[in-house]
Amino acid sequence: MSEEIFRAADQAAAMIAERSVLRPKIAVVLGSGLGDFAQELRNETVIPYSEVPNFPVSTAIGHAGNLVIGEFANVPLAVMQGRAHYYEGNSFAKAAFPMRVLHRFGVKAVVLTNAAGGINSDYGRGALVAIRDHINLMGGSPLIGPNEDRFGPRFPDMTYAYDRAYRKLAIDAAKMLDISLYEGVYAAMHGPSYETPAEIQMLARMGADLVGMSTVPEVIVARHMDMRVLAISCVTNMAAGLSGETINHEEVLETGKRVKGKFLALLRAVLPGIAATV
Ligand code: HPA
Repeated sequence: MSEEIFRAADQAAAMIAERSVLRPKIAVVLGSGLGDFAQELRNETVIPYSEVPNFPVSTAIGHAGNLVIGEFANVPLAVMQGRAHYYEGNSFAKAAFPMRVLHRFGVKAVVLTNAAGGINSDYGRGALVAIRDHINLMGGSPLIGPNEDRFGPRFPDMTYAYDRAYRKLAIDAAKMLDISLYEGVYAAMHGPSYETPAEIQMLARMGADLVGMSTVPEVIVARHMDMRVLAISCVTNMAAGLSGETINHEEVLETGKRVKGKFLALLRAVLPGIAATV
């Protein structure tokens, strides 16, 4: 099985390498409502996920489902417009398979973005948060099963899962741009229902600042292969029970659209710094 994943990742990476001459060392994963960043790429090649062998296809609204290889400020990038989730019926390993492919394609660092519910009362709708750590409450790991030693160790360390130097780059970039960027702990739930107010109270007591339904499987797989990770959440709504309002996906997408400018500015400012490290 692990041998199979290795071969599948190699095959998909080879296919991508045939479609573009660029060899990005950085990948960016764009979450709900943030997919437009891909339009900023030059010399781009757009590859629908459905054309990449074994790639999980995203069905969520607001997820275009393309891998775009292109240049941003002369830095080659692999940009994923949308991601597949566990709640869509993918195993954790399948949902995180794109990280395996990107690794075999030569990517060394990933910037993961997502939409999240805000738990920390300092946050408001539209706040940007650099994830400092996570609490995996999804009920499983993408590393379950035989370990593939060519990817990484059986028991990978998670102490510095969210690269400290990259977080500092992001904080410095935000300061320069006069954007508020918080740091916080992301609790991952499998969804797809949003949380109950009681669950949010539980997460708050556990020390979570944010809650979402993605990212953590990708981070675990990326760290398994020693890829460096920066993860930024956009607080699209306050978590259940904290604002008196109910939560819906349209609101999530709408907030994503509203903060797009701020978010793009941050990405633009942080990518050259990351490029200097890979
Ligand atoms: N909970 C879980 N996932 C989310 C939320 C939320 O409130 N908002 C956006 N993604």
